[in-house]
Amino acid sequence: MEGFKTIIEPFKIKMVESIKVTTEAQREKFLKDAHYNPFLLSSDQVMIDFLTDSGTSAMSANQWAGMMQGDESYAGSNSWLRMEKTIRDLTGFEYIFPTHQGRAAERILYGYLGGKGKVFISNTHFDTTRANIEFSGAEAIDIPIPEATHPALEHPFKGNLDTVKLEAAIKQHGAKNIGAVILTVTNNSGGGQPVSMKNTREISRICKKYKVLFVLDCCRVAENAYFIRHREKSFEKRSYKSIAQEMFSLTDGAIMSAKKDALVNMGGFLALKSKTHADACKNLLIITEGFTTYGGLSGRDMEAIAIGLEEVFEDDYLNYRISSTTFFGEHLKKLGVPLMTPIGGHAVYIDAKKFYNHIPVHKYPGQALVCELYLKGGIRSVEIGSVMFGKYDEKGKLIPAPMELVRLAIPRRVYTQSHIEFAIEVFEKLIKEKKSAKGLEIIEEPKFLRHFSAKFKR
Ligand code: F0G
Repeated sequence: MEGFKTIIEPFKIKMVESIKVTTEAQREKFLKDAHYNPFLLSSDQVMIDFLTDSGTSAMSANQWAGMMQGDESYAGSNSWLRMEKTIRDLTGFEYIFPTHQGRAAERILYGYLGGKGKVFISNTHFDTTRANIEFSGAEAIDIPIPEATHPALEHPFKGNLDTVKLEAAIKQHGAKNIGAVILTVTNNSGGGQPVSMKNTREISRICKKYKVLFVLDCCRVAENAYFIRHREKSFEKRSYKSIAQEMFSLTDGAIMSAKKDALVNMGGFLALKSKTHADACKNLLIITEGFTTYGGLSGRDMEAIAIGLEEVFEDDYLNYRISSTTFFGEHLKKLGVPLMTPIGGHAVYIDAKKFYNHIPVHKYPGQALVCELYLKGGIRSVEIGSVMFGKYDEKGKLIPAPMELVRLAIPRRVYTQSHIEFAIEVFEKLIKEKKSAKGLEIIEEPKFLRHFSAKFKR
């Protein structure tokens, strides 16, 4: 659409799912009943669901048609062969295993590579990645570049891993004790920020030098390729897919939650170069997920993944996808909403500590913003701050997380520009009524992953 400033959604809507429009008074009651934790709301109480971009994509007519062709054979399913061929073409890896979602692939690979005394190094481990590593007895270390932890700082590749620290960490722990180096693209926990090819090449060089396994957590690899083409010299004319292929070629294996950039509602895979590692993982796969030609998936899911992995690299799709997140973020920035910048690929992250600077950290400003967004606009989001990552000292005092963020993750091909414009308007209202926002207190919480089920009081 050259010469126009409006980037249209490059799809027409064939089937719709209705949104139940609610009033503020209704939402007040729903939220109270959910103990001020939107994870406890039912989805029909939500008007715009920005809780996650995972498993929430709208599939294309082609994917739905593919589902009807799903081959449900236990062994040698044609749908598997199609999925395997697509992944092999994309990643270049010989050994490919289907899994029911990303964390199943993580459990298999990191369960096998991990164990007591092992260390994993990443730009930032996603929470399930860290949990699977720590569950095996190993240690997970995050070494993003220093710019990554300053929300307002601009950097084209804020998802990069600090390669100087990487080499030092390998030397410190000893190469034989490194389970793997895991590069997460884009860096979800670090604000959906991209990683450059230059950084990936340097990590690859270091891993080769010390003979350390290099794994790509590639669940948003297409979105990352978009940023490389538009921000890194010499990639302007390259196709998104060829950029992703080059990135895979620098690594020894990949794990994917297909619920993101494969444009499906469920699925994942593990892909490896080495036969030794693949043989070990194959056993674990068969014991815990299923036979090698379906993992935990139905044939129809595998068809949809094969098609989704092609569609996600289309120019028009990626242009719309990243532009729509940027449109949202840039408008919020103009309103003066403090954000994690530059705007990432799949989500906009708000700096809630700055937005509600009258709410102290122990009253959870992020959770307060999550509640206000729901009350005023029926929008569901997630706190990524001290509710999610806070700990207590021996005296029961909160040790806060480094940042108090709120993530508004955008499902793929689901909402239109008017939904985004509505969300921007909701923020205008929140700005006007800033001072009336109140902090919260936790009245009940589980020991692990408390953000999912904690109960609050206002
Ligand atoms: N790696 C990354 C970078 C992720 O973002 C996720 C999931 C996973 C691994 C695990 O994949 O859910 O299929 O088991 N992220 C979701 C989110 C849950 O909301 O960001 P999974």
